Amino acid sequence: MSETGQGAAAPADRLRGLMRRAPQLVTVVTALGADGPRGITVSSFTSVSLDPALVLVSIGAASPAHAAIRSGRFRVHLLAEDQADLSNHFARPGQTSAEQFAAPCRAALRPGAPPLLAGCVGWLECAVTAEYREADHTLFIGRVVAGDLERPEAAPLIYHDRGYHRIER
Ligand SMILES: Cc1cc2nc3c(=O)[nH]c(=O)nc-3n(C[C@H](O)[C@H](O)[C@H](O)COP(=O)(O)O)c2cc1C
Repeated sequence: MSETGQGAAAPADRLRGLMRRAPQLVTVVTALGADGPRGITVSSFTSVSLDPALVLVSIGAASPAHAAIRSGRFRVHLLAEDQADLSNHFARPGQTSAEQFAAPCRAALRPGAPPLLAGCVGWLECAVTAEYREADHTLFIGRVVAGDLERPEAAPLIYHDRGYHRIER
């Protein structure tokens, strides 16, 4: 094994270099915070266990979505291949809650529930069971309490090498 081409690269550069080459699924996590609904584009979503049904997301502590998820509920939406615009929308920093959920974003906003985004492959609603702070991120563990596949035939959106891709089928 060699480490050719890396020279004296810093650990963060090595991590970034590897993760750039790893295909990532793209989700938008929504939650209802004290200051209104919030959303954030997230590729760190993963399944933790099936029984009980647990998932994990890693969320930057500086994001307004972080405080909203700490309310105890969040919804994970798996984006479809035609939703790159929605991914970019929820990755844009500095937006108010109203700006995040204004048109063209199509979302159902209900009191007491995380926003439900339209047009996704599917979604899971989760109750936070644990949170672990690590550096500038928090790992939120969520127990799945509801879910639906809205477009089961739609291919998921993939993020790889700083761009969006489709799965060839
Ligand atoms: C494809 C993609 C995946 C991302 N995954 C995550 C993630 O897993 N966790 C996270 O905290 N931020 C992630 N981000 C960054 C956030 O979406 C967002 O850009 C950042 O939190 C700044 O916006 P905010 O301050 O309004 O939340 C991702 C961005 C993109 C484009």
